[in-house]
Amino acid sequence: MKKRLACRLALTYGLIFIIAVAVINIVLIFLYRSNQLQKNENYYMSLCSVLSSMAENNIRITDYIDTGAGFTDEKSGRVLLLDTDGKVILDSGGEMAGMHLTNPEFREASQKGIPAAGYYILDEKGMAMFSHPVLLSGRVSAVVLVSVYIQDIYDDINRFAKQTILISVMVAAIVIAASVWTGRRLSAPITKLTAAAEKISEGNTGTNVNIDRNDEIGVLADSFNKMSSELQKIEAGRKRFISDVSHELKTPLASIKALVEALLAGKTDSDECREYLGDVDHEIDRMSSLVSSLLTSARLEETMLKKEPLVLAEEVERVIKALRPLASQKLILLHNTCHHGVVVNADRNMLREVLINLIDNAIKYGLEGGYVKVECSNGIFKVIDNGCGILQQDLQSIFDSFYRVDRSRTGEGGSGIGLFIVKRIVELHGFDISVSSTYGEGSVFTVKFGDMISY
Ligand SMILES: Nc1ncnc2c1ncn2[C@@H]1O[C@H](COP(=O)(O)OP(=O)(O)OP(=O)(O)O)[C@@H](O)[C@H]1O
Ligand SMILES: [Mg+2]
Repeated sequence: MKKRLACRLALTYGLIFIIAVAVINIVLIFLYRSNQLQKNENYYMSLCSVLSSMAENNIRITDYIDTGAGFTDEKSGRVLLLDTDGKVILDSGGEMAGMHLTNPEFREASQKGIPAAGYYILDEKGMAMFSHPVLLSGRVSAVVLVSVYIQDIYDDINRFAKQTILISVMVAAIVIAASVWTGRRLSAPITKLTAAAEKISEGNTGTNVNIDRNDEIGVLADSFNKMSSELQKIEAGRKRFISDVSHELKTPLASIKALVEALLAGKTDSDECREYLGDVDHEIDRMSSLVSSLLTSARLEETMLKKEPLVLAEEVERVIKALRPLASQKLILLHNTCHHGVVVNADRNMLREVLINLIDNAIKYGLEGGYVKVECSNGIFKVIDNGCGILQQDLQSIFDSFYRVDRSRTGEGGSGIGLFIVKRIVELHGFDISVSSTYGEGSVFTVKFGDMISY
């Protein structure tokens, strides 16, 4: 099963926090414990030291010890004075006098002559023992031993530990709850995006997500929505393109079929027969021109641009040479005023495709006996004709695929894909194309070649 991102985040944050708090707790409790015990040890060690110096200086300590040495009873502690054999000489509690002791603290003080401290659990209660040697002429002559119950210190440490742990558990609970909330807040938009992406993969292009955030996720959601609507446009374009192509092929096919059926019926004389075959030939020409335009358009998307510096005037001249017979049929004059010093950085074949389409259109929709001018100045290339012109309402659509202005107005007609290819090539090169036209007077197609060099 997939782990939810929110759980992962909560778990990670929670675990990191718990480990950190546990370490802090252990350190705090340890420090508090050693601090409390050290304070106690310092106090009783100095008491031992004072008593041993009293003994060393022959100051009577008998009365002090006999009267309890400051301890209320033997349950709180006692002070003992032992000889070097461990025999109790004096006991603040009274009843241990005469007994022999051999505990490690006594041995440390009597044998090594150094003070010592030890901690024990007696009857489930904590106690500490401190010893200090009494030195006479540099030799250990007796040992002061203080034993004290320190259960209250242990109780205090336990209380401190419990309180610290309790506070930590409470804070950990708050932190875990906060990280669950943060995790949910972070993962909610991702869940939304995933659901929307799944919808798109099922074919529902255009699915949007509504995420109003001012951070990277908000930016991601915006990009996602943009991508989704782009996909929707592409999908709609693809559908429209397929239906346009089918339609474009259906019409000439239907017309060819009708003509062939008429021929097969055999009711036509030889002149009619020739006329019908001519029509069939024309339809086949139209279809093959459409198919080759479609192939060009499809190839555009997959071929890599091979940009090279091209002398614009030469490229225009080549195209004009190829189209001159077409222009002659309509008695149209072709002028090329491009300067030979103008060099364009473009793909040769694609540039040729652009020039052919623009000049071919200018001739096709040009005026009988009119002119077509190709000029280039100040980085701007123009194809100008004085033909039928284009109505304002058609201007923004002529670059769409299969868009043709009403043939009854233009008199001529192709498949309506030429300018679509031109626009695509211009876009691929990063150039710009625009058109201006006055209906009945003529049109001007303008291309701005981005990196045109003029000498
Ligand atoms: N110079 C022009 N003068 C007037 N109308 C034009 C001119 N150039 C293009 N048009 C109009 O724009 C339409 C689209 O042109 P486009 O070149 O895309 O298609 P087409 O010439 O009809 O067919 P083809 O795919 O064979 O080029 C044309 O049908 C025509 O009506
Ligand atoms: Mg054309």
